[in-house]
Formats: sequence, C-alpha cells, structure tokens
Amino acid sequence: MRLFTTTAGLRCYLERYRQGKEVGLVPTMGALHVGHLSLIERARRENAIVIVSIFVNPLQFAPTEDFQQYPRQLEQDRQLCEQAGVDAIFAPTAAELYGNGLLASEGGTQFTQVVPPPAAISVLCGRSRPTHFQGVATVVTKLLNLVQPERAYFGQKDAQQLAIIQRLVSDLNLPVAIVPCPIVREASGLAYSSRNQYLTQSQKAQAPILYRSLQQAQTAFQAGERDGQTLIDTVKLELTSISDINVEYVELVHPVTLTPLDRVTERGLLAIAARFGSTRLIDNILLQHRQPIVAIDGPAGAGKSTVTRHVAKALGLMHLDTGAMYRAVTWRVLKEGLDLKDEPAIAELVSQSQIYLTADDLGGFGVRVWIDGEEVTEEIRSLEVTARVSAIAALPAVRQELVKQQQRLGCQGGLVAEGRDIGTHVFPDAELKIFLTASIQERARRRQQDLKHLKQGDVSLEQLEQDLQNRDLYDSNRAVAPLRKAADAIEIQTDGLTVAEVTKQIVSLYHEKLSL
Ligand code: PAF
Repeated sequence: MRLFTTTAGLRCYLERYRQGKEVGLVPTMGALHVGHLSLIERARRENAIVIVSIFVNPLQFAPTEDFQQYPRQLEQDRQLCEQAGVDAIFAPTAAELYGNGLLASEGGTQFTQVVPPPAAISVLCGRSRPTHFQGVATVVTKLLNLVQPERAYFGQKDAQQLAIIQRLVSDLNLPVAIVPCPIVREASGLAYSSRNQYLTQSQKAQAPILYRSLQQAQTAFQAGERDGQTLIDTVKLELTSISDINVEYVELVHPVTLTPLDRVTERGLLAIAARFGSTRLIDNILLQHRQPIVAIDGPAGAGKSTVTRHVAKALGLMHLDTGAMYRAVTWRVLKEGLDLKDEPAIAELVSQSQIYLTADDLGGFGVRVWIDGEEVTEEIRSLEVTARVSAIAALPAVRQELVKQQQRLGCQGGLVAEGRDIGTHVFPDAELKIFLTASIQERARRRQQDLKHLKQGDVSLEQLEQDLQNRDLYDSNRAVAPLRKAADAIEIQTDGLTVAEVTKQIVSLYHEKLSL
C-alpha cells in the first residue's frame, strides 16, 4: 500500500498504475471505524484500485467547532487500510490542498468554493452549521477531480451530505457514480462515528436512544402512520426518556431533494441531531413505502429469465426483464446499422430511445417489448441480437441509460428483476438477492432446447459450450458492471432442478426473508 501526502505523488501514481482500471475512492476524515471499513470493503469488491483519502477538512468546520480536537490517528488508519486491501491513501495537509487560500486575510477565505442549493443546506444540520456543506462540497469536488474515480463511496449515516453530493455530481455533470452505503451500527444500535470516542461511558450507554426513537417512528410508519408531525413527535417522546440529551432537531425531509415533508407518500428521511455533553451525534432512518424487490443475477443460460418470469407470476410482482431491455437496444443499434465500435453514436441513440415492457397476455406471463413505438418481442431473440447483446450491454453509456430507466421503474418496488448486476449495481438495496448458477454443460443443453423451440437452427452442444465459456469470461472481466455475486446474495445451483423447483425455493426464501 502507498501513502501520498502531495497531489503530485497521487497524480503520478494514478498515471502510472491506472492503465484503464476502475478506481474507487473512499473520502474520509480518518479516525477510521467499522462504518468506514464497510465502505472500503465495498469499494474493494467493485474496483481494481481503491484509494482512501484522509483529510480533516478545515473548510467544513466553523470556528466554534471541534476542528482542533477532531481525532487524528494516521498510523492506526494506515494499518486498517493496509489490512482492508487499500491500494493507496491520500493524506494531504491543508496547505497542500488549499495553498494559502485558507489563511484568514482581510477578505476571509480566498478560495473558490462550491455552494450547494440553499434549500438543501437550510434544513437539518445546515441550520446550525450554515457553512458546513459548502466546505464538504468544495473538498469533495477537489478530491473527485484529483482522483477521477469511477465510483466514490459515502455512508447513509450522513444522509444530508450524501444527498448534497449526489446533487452536486448530477448538477455539475461530474463523471463519477456515487455509491451510498448503509449505516453500520454497534450491537446497541448506536451508529458508528468517529465522534463516538468523545463519549463518556454513561453517555455511550444513553446514545442508542437515538436509533431506538427512530425505530419507534418506523414501527408507527409500518403500521400506516404517514403524518409527518406525528412521526416526529413519536421520536421526540422517546427521546424524553433520557435526561442528559440536548436535542438539536428531529426533522422529516425528502431523502433526495431534502425538502421538509408534512406527510410521507413514498419515502421520507427522518433525521436527528443531539448532543450528549459537548458531543454532537446524528442518526437517521429511511421510511419507505415500497413493495419488495427481488434481484436475480447469474451467468448467461443459468435459466434466469424463465425462473424470473415464474417467480414474478407466483409472487404477483412485475417482471422487469432487463435482459430484454438490453436486447431491444441492441436490435435498435443493428437496425440503424451503427458501427458497434462507434460508442458516441450508440450513446446518442440510446439516450433518445424509450423502451416499454408490458405483461404478455397472450403467452401467459412473459413480457412484450417495445422500443420507440415498435414491438420487438420476437425480433430481440434472434441469433444476431444474441451474438451482439453482451458487447452492447458492456458500453458504459448504454448501461448508464438503461440503469436509470430500470431504477425509475423500481422506485416503487414490487418487482422481480434479472440480469448480471441487478443485486450489485441496479438495486443494491433489494430485499432478496438470488444468484442462479448451473454447469456449462447444463446451460448449453438448455440453450440448445431454447433455440430448437424458437426454430433457430441446430447448433451443436460443443459450440454452445464454447460460446458460453467465452461469454462468462467476457461478462466477468468487462470493465463496466461485470458479472459478480452480491455479498448478500443467496446462491442456487440449478443443475438437475426443474424450473418449478427453483421457483419454489425462491418463493419460500422470499416468504422467509420478509416473514410473510
Ligand atoms: O464524511 C466525511 O468524513 C467528510 O465530510 C468528507 C466527505 C470526507 C469530506 O471531508
């Protein structure tokens, strides 16, 4: 593992070692804890190079805040990063990152800053920390520009920060995917935070009240309560059971726009800030009225589409056939006669294309597929489309556009989706994730039957096995959204099992997991 304290060292390292590899950035202020390690682990799984930045950013602290006391423990952080398989730490000084810009002069800070929208910084923590998010947005923009990662990882614990950064990246067209990661909690329910180390023993014993009070509101929400003030009052009432707490706010806002909510229709972010002594802690919970999502991933020919159709039917959920969406785009590209290497032209076409999926009333419960007003349900199953779909689906522009369309369809939940990166990338918060596999021989045999059924010629088993092997290699190694099993996916080996048997297993896993 390397450690750089200068931008020159970092730049040189990236120039030399990047060579087309994907880079994941985990920005931190150090004093690493289990929460940070979960971000690093995720970044490790998804990128070839992982960089952790450690920088206590003076711009995001007001003069009255704990900038001087903020824990600094670089040697311990270095060891933790080394154990977690980080490739490089970037730990600059303030002078290195801001030059002389922060020296208070007559005009105050002389440094270009990034200002988030006023509405996003006038709620929650922004009320008591009016300059904080400007400081965060500025340093994050600098770090993203310096590292230029494919992905950057942020914890959901700082939900306002996360929403502001997502907005920043979208508004300024920064070429990076922001990956939100779930809150990690101690057994007591207390969310991990670098500031927990300021707490005395008795404060630490009281601090889990934050999460308990949020859970009370969640229980009320699950029982049907949608009124914002009632949900807030539920939290406040629970917090009164502790005397040594100084509550700064309990607020309910939209998790993306951060606008205050009177009622929760789809989603609401319920957030708290409170002080125990002089230590300020924050916590939050996402209230989400969403039906579950089932994500089914696996290699080509493992039976995903058939199983997904049956599972969707059995559970009464919508079948989001993402494979069909990629096929539809491939068909469109071929129809236009575009050169498959001309990614800009393909990007242009795909971002203007509209795909529709509807239940297939005639064939039972498959999907019918339209692209730009033309039905292509059968056309997208041709050998020509099959041969090209992997290459088209691997183009970053194609994936980005279709993932956006899929996530839009999924925001209300209530669907079963299949593909190669559904559980890892498209719906990382899916309630149930399945990874279907089968041996190459079995998959080739199934493929051959499908082709016969579709009257698309007699392809030998050897040829199909070879094709599948090539496809596996390609899908697992491609730079964009490679085939990978999500850490929390349940693997089902389907050799020797019928579709009905696999479906039954998934349906009972669904009921077990969601206690239905
Ligand atoms: O969340 C943090 O630790 C900081 O706000 C961040 C994102 C590293 C910016 O300084």
